[in-house]
Amino acid sequence: MAIVTSKEMFQKAYDGGYAIGAFNVNNMEIIQGICDAAIEQRAPLILQVSKGARKYANHIYLMKLIEAAVEDAEQNAGFDLPICVHLDHGDSFELCKSCIDGGFTSVMIDASSKPFEENIALTRQVVTYAHDHGVVVEAELGTLAGVEDEVKVSAEDSSYTRPEEVEEFVTRTGCDSLAIAIGTSHGAYKFTPEQCTRNEQGILVPPPLRFDVLEEVSRRLPGFPIVLHGSSSVPQEFVAKINRFGGKMPDAVGIPEEQLRKAASLSVCKINIDSDLRLAMTANIREYLAEHPADFDPRAYLKPGRQAIKDMVAHKMIDVLGCSGKA
Ligand code: G3H
Ligand code: 13P
Ligand code: ZN
Repeated sequence: MAIVTSKEMFQKAYDGGYAIGAFNVNNMEIIQGICDAAIEQRAPLILQVSKGARKYANHIYLMKLIEAAVEDAEQNAGFDLPICVHLDHGDSFELCKSCIDGGFTSVMIDASSKPFEENIALTRQVVTYAHDHGVVVEAELGTLAGVEDEVKVSAEDSSYTRPEEVEEFVTRTGCDSLAIAIGTSHGAYKFTPEQCTRNEQGILVPPPLRFDVLEEVSRRLPGFPIVLHGSSSVPQEFVAKINRFGGKMPDAVGIPEEQLRKAASLSVCKINIDSDLRLAMTANIREYLAEHPADFDPRAYLKPGRQAIKDMVAHKMIDVLGCSGKA
């Protein structure tokens, strides 16, 4: 019952000037950390699964773990946690179909690297099958730099969304939400130091998002939910902790949180976060292992990793997305 599509979530988010967090999940501890935060915050939630996550954990394990989170919320917190289960960066009709047939309530078909007409044709094919099965579809126009599943897109090959294409694209495909490129990027190295300036503390400051592109897209698609990928902020305290405890992540940089807050107050209804989960978990596991060199019980070090995810997700819901208390 509480596994839902994103339709109502997006409508409320659009009208309320906030966004839903779409967090990538790969194992039990990640799912528990995110869901515990969502339950405490009474926040609507999107859990998204990439092709790589399905390969790592197996579709059925992830689906059952998510169902367990819903049941746990009902039984132990007395709360009907609304979760949308979404395929992240689906790259073929067959993959989208398999996720729809396997119980997902939302899929992304990412044909953004294909020519416009091919993107429309593939997206339309997925939309037809998805809508026949009560599932919603996210599509993408424009290309982000960085790593999208196993595909690497260089900064030179990335391009901002062209607002003049969005009405035709949405009308002809029938998609339910649209991911656009306004300067976000996948991974923990979103910009090179050369693309950034530095503040007084020597911390890298990335170029600002293209709010002019977002505003023009929204003007052309009134009331339509927009999605931002590549929206981790790469918190510097996690990067510093990773580096302090044996890691090596020089010049990792993300999207400043205030810019994401602004996007959430406009037409952006879904904000994708994966790298920040990885950083939070890895930083705390590294710290634990460095400080407890004799421990070898995985539960001992996975526990602080899970807690770090919960704290980070709660912070995003309250201070960045604005979705706390909206479920
Ligand atoms: O956008 C990509 C997501 O961060 C998923 O990454 O393909 O390594 O699971 P992944
Ligand atoms: P980040 O790498 O910025 O977390 O982006 C994740 C994402 O867009 C998943 O689709
Ligand atoms: Zn993405």
